[in-house]
Amino acid sequence: MTRWSHLALVPLLPQLLVATSVTDGETKPVQLHPRDDDEYSSPPFYPTPHGGWVSDWSDAYEKAYQVVSNMTLAEKVNLTTGTGFFMGPCVGQTGSAPRFGIPNLCLQDSPLGIRETDHITAFPPGLTVGATFNKELMYNRGVGIGEEARGKGVNVQLGPVVGPIGRKPRGGRNWEGFGADPTLQAIGGAETIKGMQSTGAIASLKHFIGYEQEMYRMSSIITKGYSSNIDDRTLHELYLWPFAEGVRAGVGSIMTAYNDVNSSACSQNSKLLNDILKDELGFQGFVMTDWLGHYSGVGSALAGLDMAMPGDGSVPLFGDSYWAYDLSRSILNGSVPLDRLNDMVTRIVATWYKFGQDADYPLPNFSSNTDAATGELYPGALFSPTGVVNQFINVEGDHNITARAVAREAITLLKNEDSILPLSSNDSLKVFGTDAGPNTGGLNSCTDQGCDNGVLTMGWGSGSASLPYLITPQEAIANVSQNCTFYITDSFPSSVTASADDIAIVFINADSGENSITVDGNPGDRLVAGLNAWHNGDDLVKAAAEKFSNVVVVIHTVGQIVMEEWIELDSVKAVLVAHLPGQEAGDSLVDILFGDYSPSGHMPYTIPKSESDYPDSVSIIDQPFGQIQDTFTEGLYIDYRHFLQANITPRYPFGHGLSYTTFNFSSPSMSVVTAIDSTYPPARPSQGATPKYNDSIPNPSEVAWSSTSFTRIWRYLYPYLDDPQSITASNTYPYPDGYNTTQKPGVRAGGGQGGNPALYDIAFSIDVTVTNTGSRKGKAVAQLYVELPSSLGLDTPSRQLRQFEKTEELAAGQSQTLTLEITRKDLSVWDVVVQDWMAPVDGEGVNIWIGQSVADLPVLCSVGTGCSVS
Ligand SMILES: *[C@@H]1O[C@H](CO)[C@@H](O)[C@H](O)[C@H]1NC(C)=O
Ligand SMILES: *[C@@H]1O[C@H](CO)[C@@H](O)[C@H](O)[C@H]1NC(C)=O
Ligand SMILES: *[C@@H]1O[C@H](CO)[C@@H](O)[C@H](O)[C@H]1NC(C)=O
Ligand SMILES: *[C@@H]1O[C@H](CO)[C@@H](O)[C@H](O)[C@H]1NC(C)=O
Ligand SMILES: *[C@@H]1O[C@H](CO)[C@@H](O)[C@H](O)[C@H]1NC(C)=O
Ligand SMILES: *[C@@H]1O[C@H](CO)[C@@H](O)[C@H](O)[C@H]1NC(C)=O
Ligand SMILES: *[C@@H]1O[C@H](CO)[C@@H](O)[C@H](O)[C@H]1NC(C)=O
Ligand SMILES: *[C@@H]1O[C@H](CO)[C@@H](O)[C@H](O)[C@H]1NC(C)=O
Ligand SMILES: *[C@@H]1O[C@H](CO)[C@@H](O)[C@H](O)[C@H]1NC(C)=O
Ligand SMILES: *[C@@H]1O[C@H](CO)[C@@H](O)[C@H](O)[C@H]1NC(C)=O
Ligand SMILES: *[C@@H]1O[C@H](CO)[C@@H](O)[C@H](O)[C@H]1NC(C)=O
Repeated sequence: MTRWSHLALVPLLPQLLVATSVTDGETKPVQLHPRDDDEYSSPPFYPTPHGGWVSDWSDAYEKAYQVVSNMTLAEKVNLTTGTGFFMGPCVGQTGSAPRFGIPNLCLQDSPLGIRETDHITAFPPGLTVGATFNKELMYNRGVGIGEEARGKGVNVQLGPVVGPIGRKPRGGRNWEGFGADPTLQAIGGAETIKGMQSTGAIASLKHFIGYEQEMYRMSSIITKGYSSNIDDRTLHELYLWPFAEGVRAGVGSIMTAYNDVNSSACSQNSKLLNDILKDELGFQGFVMTDWLGHYSGVGSALAGLDMAMPGDGSVPLFGDSYWAYDLSRSILNGSVPLDRLNDMVTRIVATWYKFGQDADYPLPNFSSNTDAATGELYPGALFSPTGVVNQFINVEGDHNITARAVAREAITLLKNEDSILPLSSNDSLKVFGTDAGPNTGGLNSCTDQGCDNGVLTMGWGSGSASLPYLITPQEAIANVSQNCTFYITDSFPSSVTASADDIAIVFINADSGENSITVDGNPGDRLVAGLNAWHNGDDLVKAAAEKFSNVVVVIHTVGQIVMEEWIELDSVKAVLVAHLPGQEAGDSLVDILFGDYSPSGHMPYTIPKSESDYPDSVSIIDQPFGQIQDTFTEGLYIDYRHFLQANITPRYPFGHGLSYTTFNFSSPSMSVVTAIDSTYPPARPSQGATPKYNDSIPNPSEVAWSSTSFTRIWRYLYPYLDDPQSITASNTYPYPDGYNTTQKPGVRAGGGQGGNPALYDIAFSIDVTVTNTGSRKGKAVAQLYVELPSSLGLDTPSRQLRQFEKTEELAAGQSQTLTLEITRKDLSVWDVVVQDWMAPVDGEGVNIWIGQSVADLPVLCSVGTGCSVS
């Protein structure tokens, strides 16, 4: 058992499986899971493996050791705990250790830009980045975000997101991640991390793990945050996959999810944190909670949590914490071994050194709390000193170039009959829909973008940022077109007349976001909107299609949208999914609409014909009482994996995306790089040494208030105690079953960052020539899917994306040879009995498919028979 004390706030309620029905026409009944979830529990794993044994991190750990070995208890506790909600400039900050030059570390949202401040770039969010299938842009956007974080004095920038993975089409935050596939998430996440951290900013990969719906993610008086019940194989092959690649990319920090996994909260689940993350994946950085996702003191520490954010306990703003002073107490009373605290602090300080934040890293020069130049330094205190809080530093650089390139390269052309696109500047255009125009309330007029008004540039919630400016599609089209009339309305104007040559461009959208804000009845998840366009978008398209014989539909959306009401109408000639473009919405669209660039985006998820195409288990569960048991019964079969298995033809398959030109794949060849000569990888390397400290209980005076001489800020979280001398150590803490303090040698599947390094040996390298066979310039994407043999003895999806590469812009007739590399792990399944990755020896029986979507794979390579093109 690793679940305890979280329930302090929540009276144990009987499992009242009451479900309110979702009322939209397309909706299926809400799932009532039988309590067959009893088999899902989280086994104990103790103790937390020490950090420091990976050679990449040795220097940083050595520096950290020098510092931590000299720290007092107060200094150590300071660095593990936030100072409290609204107790500093950032959305969260740790305490400091001034004797060693370590400031309050600033932690700030969001994954797409620096939230709650000015003069920043509002990049397109993860989903848009995923749709580019362009690794270089993924990396460059990461660099931009990192540079802006650094410029504002942010130590830890809270992103990227690879969980939710997008299991539930209605899930509110899917747009923050890179798409409904573990490899797309893994590459998007890893490239972003590498880019961000190249600047010295620390990335925080989130949310670990199984966070697939917004509703009931947190506990209330009547609800306990839901439990995602995930079997071991599904966890490894889907949900953990992108986290493994993030750890391999050297991510400095990981944020836990609010929900439970197998009825044990992610922030205090020893199986997840101690075993899977820190032992198997060899994670060397620090684990932090999500905001108010800290549910216990001793329990979370033992289970492997390293930092509590923003520090507050279950009820914020009262100066209460599960850690801070209470972590000092649990060290002095012997319940949390000092060994554990030393490891927490060493991980935090080593990460700070690893990214060079000890040398000239700026302090925060902005405030999340106010737009004004001066204000309260600690608004969470009733009476706060005031001072200069915003210096309005412009950190935008030339990042708008990357932001526009990402938005442009993501735009996905689903359909283009009669080559109606691209448009000419002298075409007669009629533009419809509020999604082409501005927010009528003003730019950033809705807190955290919590409204759907004007062009949809991002979803809502803490994953958003303020737009520094916005050129709308309306403005950008007007700037280029010589003959355009705008009808910025979602009700089709009956007075509009159409002539035969007119082209109607209809803008529609679909929004979602975080559960903290409800928009048009949607509490984050698309509860009432379903998978339909918002603001009667379907009706707007149909009305335009009735009057005009040429209709182009432009869609800004957070995810799957059902288009069956109009997609087959004769006059609907073209459809562009522009995803969520961020600040460069207008210009990036115009780049494509008028043919300066060919579209090269590809769908990062499947577009279904109906919501009923999905398994019931991926519906939003709306159950206000007790605890939702969200059992992942579909296993590996999410998104296209499911459509293939159930033999359902979607409207548009995963990976689909047309261009203004055409491409041909030819001359494929495959070579063995490192032979897979055994079913399981070679033995892992043994674990390197980790820092050794004196672990005896420190002198209580180190956390005595009397030892300090500064003015206390009311409700601020400190490490100090009034009478620490009165605390005596005892061994009476009711430790969970399986509790143990002896460091283990390391699990079989571990051995390096991301797991056994041999898992990442390149097994095969495949070359394929891509030729532009059309008449316009453009970029192509080669997507590589693996089909694993039945000889592995496990039911496995028939196609799994494992690699992709994008060409340069190819002129008509031009060719480029792409090299796609796949690792041993890419060809492996997780053996739950052996607890290791199992691959077919020599790749025997593996089929490797390459093409332009999961449903268009002309290239086939396999061991023995080689490669062919059909
Ligand atoms: C959750 O329970 C399943 C089923 O028993 C098990 O396979 C899996 O390893 C468990 N995962 C965690 C993180 O506890
Ligand atoms: C810090 O600790 C190291 C190793 O324990 C020791 O050699 C060094 O003298 C200490 N430095 C200070 C400033 O106390
Ligand atoms: C702990 O952090 C606070 C700031 O959050 C700082 O004022 C205090 O001096 C720190 N304590 C020690 C012992 O460094
Ligand atoms: C030690 O202190 C912590 C924090 O207050 C508390 O949770 C724990 O129960 C205490 N241990 C004992 C044995 O009293
Ligand atoms: C704020 O930003 C400027 C420019 O990046 C930097 O020089 C400064 O150190 C930062 N912090 C403070 C507190 O001024
Ligand atoms: C980026 O912004 C600069 C300065 O505001 C502007 O001159 C430039 O045209 C913009 N670039 C793009 C690609 O929009
Ligand atoms: C419209 O522009 C295209 C080139 O963009 C030109 O070929 C065509 O003649 C123009 N049509 C008219 C009616 O001006
Ligand atoms: C716009 O296009 C329409 C239809 O082709 C044409 O009748 C009209 O003259 C054009 N207007 C301008 C200003 O070019
Ligand atoms: C208008 O178009 C010109 C040239 O096509 C371009 O340089 C300029 O940046 C555009 N302005 C806007 C606001 O889109
Ligand atoms: C396309 O590729 C096929 C197979 O490699 C080749 O036979 C054919 O000539 C190519 N077509 C063009 C137009 O390049
Ligand atoms: C703790 O783990 C060690 C090594 O795995 C083992 O030898 C020892 O028996 C365990 N102690 C307890 C109390 O289970």
